Amino acid sequence: MLNPDLQKKLLAEGREFMKNDHNSAYTDFESDQNLKLPQPPLVKEPMSNHAELLPRNFEDLEMEQDFIKLLTERKSSRVYTQQPLSLLQLSFLLWATQGIKDIRGKSYATLRTVPSGGARHAFETYLLVQHVEGLRPGAYHYLPMGHQLEFLHPVDDLPAQISTSLEGQSWAAKASVIFYWSFVPYRCEWRYGIFAHRPALMDAGHLGQNLYLACAALGLGTCAVAAFDRQMCDSLFTLDGEEEFTVYASPVGTISPKDHSSEKAFYQFVEDEGL
Ligand SMILES: Cc1cc2nc3c(=O)[nH]c(=O)nc-3n(C[C@H](O)[C@H](O)[C@H](O)COP(=O)(O)O)c2cc1C
Repeated sequence: MLNPDLQKKLLAEGREFMKNDHNSAYTDFESDQNLKLPQPPLVKEPMSNHAELLPRNFEDLEMEQDFIKLLTERKSSRVYTQQPLSLLQLSFLLWATQGIKDIRGKSYATLRTVPSGGARHAFETYLLVQHVEGLRPGAYHYLPMGHQLEFLHPVDDLPAQISTSLEGQSWAAKASVIFYWSFVPYRCEWRYGIFAHRPALMDAGHLGQNLYLACAALGLGTCAVAAFDRQMCDSLFTLDGEEEFTVYASPVGTISPKDHSSEKAFYQFVEDEGL
């Protein structure tokens, strides 16, 4: 059991982080932007020379259009039928979560399908692909500037790696693709410095919610995941753990719209486990 004093201290630290009261305490704070230091890049450079353009003919996708129905049907799905996603479906999910619609000013900021405090958009998207038509299984990185996907490397025993990377949540091993989002702190620290981190976590929620709604529109299932092994996720995508580290994950898979019996049993398990 955690030492009660240590526990108290850690709880207090967590609450301080959420309160973000630095404004009144550190009035002499100057951001790197105020100090006229150069702005960091808006997106990460390609990590390989295997970038492929993704299809953008989203009008060809079969999609639920009724927004009220989408909100009603959005839910966390953890039982997947292991059918492949089409490349167009995956392309839509990437665009819905991080797609770039416009560039503001002279490469000053990106405007995307999600909002972000100060348009900092301090996230990168990585995937472990298991079943997507036209893609070999393995690790990928999304390049939002050109709406491209780059293959990084193959991954041995994908189902086991997926489950371990998500703290043993073995249901995720049947997903067709797993989204892992990293945070690149300096992209927002440059402007917001010591105030950067709490809004960035709020921003992460927008990616998760857009993924939920885009999956609902396509009849796919997803489930946000906060219980992941950060170090393992970082090493899967060769992130250094300081200038870039994993903050959120979401498996996506095909689901059966009719047979809810296995899902019901699973929800009971989720409730029992307090997930
Ligand atoms: C930030 C966040 C983290 C979550 N982490 C997990 C997780 O690690 N494992 C899991 O099974 N569900 C996880 N969930 C899903 C929640 O359990 C789920 O959203 C909640 O039970 C409500 O169900 P609903 O999404 O179907 O409305 C997470 C949800 C959010 C928003």
